[in-house]
Amino acid sequence: MRLPFFGSPPAPAFSPFRSSDAAAASAIHAEGFAAPWASVEIERLANDDAVIGDTAREGKPGGRVLGFVLSRKAADEAEILTIATARAARGRGIGKGLLSRHLARLAAAGVRTLFLEVEETNAAARALYAQAGFEQVGRRTAYYAKPDGSRADALVLKRPL
Ligand SMILES: CC(C)(COP(=O)(O)OP(=O)(O)OC[C@H]1O[C@@H](n2cnc3c(N)ncnc32)[C@H](O)[C@@H]1OP(=O)(O)O)[C@@H](O)C(=O)NCCC(=O)NCCS
Repeated sequence: MRLPFFGSPPAPAFSPFRSSDAAAASAIHAEGFAAPWASVEIERLANDDAVIGDTAREGKPGGRVLGFVLSRKAADEAEILTIATARAARGRGIGKGLLSRHLARLAAAGVRTLFLEVEETNAAARALYAQAGFEQVGRRTAYYAKPDGSRADALVLKRPL
């Protein structure tokens, strides 16, 4: 018998991002980025026909949002706008699962090439992307403003779908 409190968390469930996920996504975004996105901004993206998103939530009815990813499509290319996992749920394969599902949905929507920008010092995200087959194709020097006033380079990564 597995005690409900001590058992491992249920496997996450993945679904297309909905505008009703925006408030939870905004809170998760704020845990991951120095410049958080307001719920209304995320809702506007969710209602944009060019934006494709996926949500990971607890795998039980009414489960909380644990992570999300949003990309913008233009012709047969797309760019990942953001991906984040709730701090308390990181390291459990949610980012990997989200990205894998998202790549499949983008490919099904006709995307052939996917781009993204990642801060050079973001080891977790860089490992996630390397594992998913992204390769560096560029660098934007001093692209990100850090909370301490310093600047960090962005790496531009690309992956064929
Ligand atoms: C990047 C992020 C989305 C990863 O989400 P996650 O759910 O914790 O990732 P997963 O548990 O699925 O891990 C997937 C892979 O990422 C890498 N990874 C995750 N956390 C890591 C860490 N702390 N250090 C190094 N690599 C890490 C590993 O390669 C891991 O694969 P493995 O478990 O087979 O080794 C999460 O750390 C996050 O939300 N960060 C803040 C927001 C952010 O930086 N987004 C990316 C912007 S470009």
